[in-house]
Amino acid sequence: MDDPPKFDKKSRYTEGRGIAGAYEGETVTRRRLMEGAAQLYGGIAVAAIALPSLGFALGPLLEKSTASRWQDLGPEDDFNIEAYVPRTFNIVPEVGDPGKSTVYVRRFDAERDTVVKGQERQPYVAISTRCTHVGCPVRYIQASLKFVCPCHGGVYGFEGQVEGGPPVRPLDRFYTRVENGRVEMGDRFSVNSEFERFSPRDPSNHLDGLWQYLYPSRPTT
Ligand code: FES
Repeated sequence: MDDPPKFDKKSRYTEGRGIAGAYEGETVTRRRLMEGAAQLYGGIAVAAIALPSLGFALGPLLEKSTASRWQDLGPEDDFNIEAYVPRTFNIVPEVGDPGKSTVYVRRFDAERDTVVKGQERQPYVAISTRCTHVGCPVRYIQASLKFVCPCHGGVYGFEGQVEGGPPVRPLDRFYTRVENGRVEMGDRFSVNSEFERFSPRDPSNHLDGLWQYLYPSRPTT
C-alpha cells in the first residue's frame, strides 16, 4: 500500500499544502484573493436585493402623520355630514390651472364614519377623485351615495371603500383641519381596505397584506 502523500503546511502552493481542488502552480495568495473577491461580489448582490426590501418594510414605520401644506376649502357652514361638496384645489400650485383637481368634502360623522387607523381623527372627510385603478377621475352620485368611475366601472361606497370593479384599494383622502372657522385641506394619504393610513401611493398599488411593502410612497403625485 502506498504511503499517504506528505504535505508541507508552509508551502506557498495550494497543491503542496494539500488543499482540495488545488492545481499545479496555484499559490495560496491567489486562491485567497479569488475567494475574497467571490465573497465581496456575493455580499454586494445580497445587499442589492435585501436593502430595497428592508427599506419598503421599514418605510411604513417612518411615514409621517401630519400635513405640510394647507389649502382653504371654505367656511364650515358650507359642509354637512349628509352629502359631499365638490371643491377645486391645486395639487401643484406652482403650475397654476393645469395643477387643479377636485376633492369631495363633508363633515366627519362620529356615529357612522370609520376612524382611519394611524392618525388623529380628522374633522372632515376629504376624498380624492383619482380612481385607485389607473387614475381616472371619479364622480360622486348623491342619489346612490356612491363614487363611480367612468373608465372601467369602478364603484366606491360612501366612505370611498371599493364596492365593485377593478380598483385595488379605497379612494385616497386628504388631511383636514379647521382654522378660524374655515376648513382647510392638507396632503393626500392612502388607506387600505381596513382603513389603515399609509403615505400616498400611486393608482393600482395594493395596500393589503404583504402588498403594502412592495410599493414605495409617491407623495408628489
Ligand atoms: S380607472 Fe377607474 S375603474 Fe379603471
